[in-house]
Amino acid sequence: MTISPELSVLLHENRQFDPPADLAANANAQPEIYERAAADRLGFWSEQAEFLTWDRHWDEVLEWEAPHSKWFVGGTLNASVNCVDRHVDAGNGGRVAFHWVGEPEGDTRATTYAQLKDQVCQAANALTDLGVKKGDRVAIYMPMIPETVVAMLACARLGAPHMVVFAGYSSEALSTRIIDCGAQVVITADGSWRKGVINELKPAVDVAMDSCPDVRHVLVVKRTGQEVDWRTGRDVWWHDTVEKASTDHTPEMFDSEHPLYIMYTSGTTGTPKGVLHTTGGYLTHVSSTSRLIFDMKPETDVFWTAADIGWVTGHSYIVYGPLANGVTSVMYEGAPDAGGKDRWWKIIEHYGVTILYTAPTTIRTFMKWGEEYPKMHDLSSLRIIGSVGEPINPEAWIWYHSNIGGNTAAVVDTWWQTENGGILITPLPGITATKPGAAMKPFPGISAEVFGNDGKPVGRGEGGFLVVTEPWPGMLRTVWGDDERYQRTYWSKFPGVYLSGDGAKKDDDGDFWVLGRLDDVMNISGHRISTTEVEHAIVSDLKVAEAAVVGASDPITGTAIVAFVTIKASVDTEGEAGVRLVAELRDTVAERIGKLARPRQILLTPELPKTRSGKIMRRLLRDVAEHRELGDVTTLADSTVVDMIAELMADAPAEAEDTTNGSAASGVADSTTAEEAGGHA
Ligand code: WT7
Repeated sequence: MTISPELSVLLHENRQFDPPADLAANANAQPEIYERAAADRLGFWSEQAEFLTWDRHWDEVLEWEAPHSKWFVGGTLNASVNCVDRHVDAGNGGRVAFHWVGEPEGDTRATTYAQLKDQVCQAANALTDLGVKKGDRVAIYMPMIPETVVAMLACARLGAPHMVVFAGYSSEALSTRIIDCGAQVVITADGSWRKGVINELKPAVDVAMDSCPDVRHVLVVKRTGQEVDWRTGRDVWWHDTVEKASTDHTPEMFDSEHPLYIMYTSGTTGTPKGVLHTTGGYLTHVSSTSRLIFDMKPETDVFWTAADIGWVTGHSYIVYGPLANGVTSVMYEGAPDAGGKDRWWKIIEHYGVTILYTAPTTIRTFMKWGEEYPKMHDLSSLRIIGSVGEPINPEAWIWYHSNIGGNTAAVVDTWWQTENGGILITPLPGITATKPGAAMKPFPGISAEVFGNDGKPVGRGEGGFLVVTEPWPGMLRTVWGDDERYQRTYWSKFPGVYLSGDGAKKDDDGDFWVLGRLDDVMNISGHRISTTEVEHAIVSDLKVAEAAVVGASDPITGTAIVAFVTIKASVDTEGEAGVRLVAELRDTVAERIGKLARPRQILLTPELPKTRSGKIMRRLLRDVAEHRELGDVTTLADSTVVDMIAELMADAPAEAEDTTNGSAASGVADSTTAEEAGGHA
């Protein structure tokens, strides 16, 4: 693997930040944890699992028949009991589980653990009335409101795996996921508030339902209150059913390996993969990482993962990790600049947030807005600030540390993926001296390595494939409905070793630097989108002959989508017609995938650069997109093509960012701008 000039600058970063002394003294994770876990990996995970409440203890920690694992074999538990009931039983029912902050100012709601328990029981009873049984999949397409958490936990309580689709995805993305996992019940809301306007969700679900004949019921939360279309018999209101149901519900205990949820994520080929997570191992992983990386102290901490529940970050660190620990969290509905560019800082000051978890793209947006906004508020309650979703550049790290963390909070740059369930590589806040830009060390009990093509660890300072060499409890168990794809995607390059798809290197101290994706997956504001997915959407327009999509570096979103498109000869692309066509193609992508996948730039070109064997040279297109000098062109069939494209690119007007909200069916988030995307926010 070659390392670009920008990266080699990054890799010469040599500043270090010691763990804050007071944090270190009282941290849940003390230095001997690494040795203990290294000496007895399964013993370490077993100790972590003991923090949960099991109905039946496991017989065996791990059963590993590569690449299939079973964790805490023979154990039984219920995830919702672990997140809710047991805290109430322990006398902590009065503690706030969520301080929910709606986007309109003053629209707030606090939910205690006791209230959450009642609501989860009511929802479990209502879902049972709608025919949901153990093993049934339930689709959730919801905004950031407390009912979303209630819905997920109610599914978990019934042993009905939830399949949450980010509400910024299009109706088409929703229906393909519903069909793939065979969900027959959908939970949604009429809409949510985003930048002061209502983003309707129900219309998108209605459109999706046209292609989902197997869906029996759509359960709808009233959040924004506008008129919605209604299909009697199929559609039911949350307030007519859930809120009228009994608050008594006796939970069933499930096998440790019972499916907890499915979450779709982009891979290198067109269709998204349904990543399957199960119960005992996943809960062990997310609760222990919450306790040890975020140092959660339920009596005193106020935790805020500023992400959307529609991503895995939200599943693991808004819902399951914090709740399993019984901590108080903040949950925010809207855009980071709704009501002012200091909205987040106002929330942190008001609730005394002690731990914040967000994405580099959001941090860079705040940097752009300026430090006067965080300065308007007292952020001294913050003691740990986390980052996730993409490599964090040292400037953003330093800015975050000083302007948000007051130079005293510990920064944790956490590397992981949807497939991993929870954090795998990270500093521990009371132990690790951090380096800006480095994810540092595998979490205790995690065996990560950097491999060369030969399947052996590379030397210090060399780039290679980031892999995990031993199973871990939060790992995906399979790809829903396609175990062959699971085996091929993650376990075939190095048999028995998990291939992450990322590149990394270890520095002279053995600390990890994650360098980003090695495959055709782009990371747009921390969202995974594959180049093929976008190409498929573009070529679905009948005017298009061919499309090649590349990720180009972008100062705010990390990577931005640039598409090179050839149009059929019969179609007029001159002047206004060309401009309209480009706009149309961007809309097509938004409709087929979601606004977050809308290309920053689409360049119409008469031809694409190809090798003699007809393969599109994306590497050269990336050079063009980044206005770089072209790399090696000797393998091209016709090297004048790429020069012509480079010229077109140089003349092309920089495309204005489109921040309109577009059609209702495309949902809440417009992730073509980082202000909106806020990474996972
Ligand atoms: C991809 C996974 C699971 C969290 C949200 C993203 C990139 C994630 C880091 C980090 C460098 C990171 C990787 C990874 N990534 N965290 N701290 N440093 N890169 O989940 O959508 O499954 O994306 O995000 O490229 O493969 P995801």
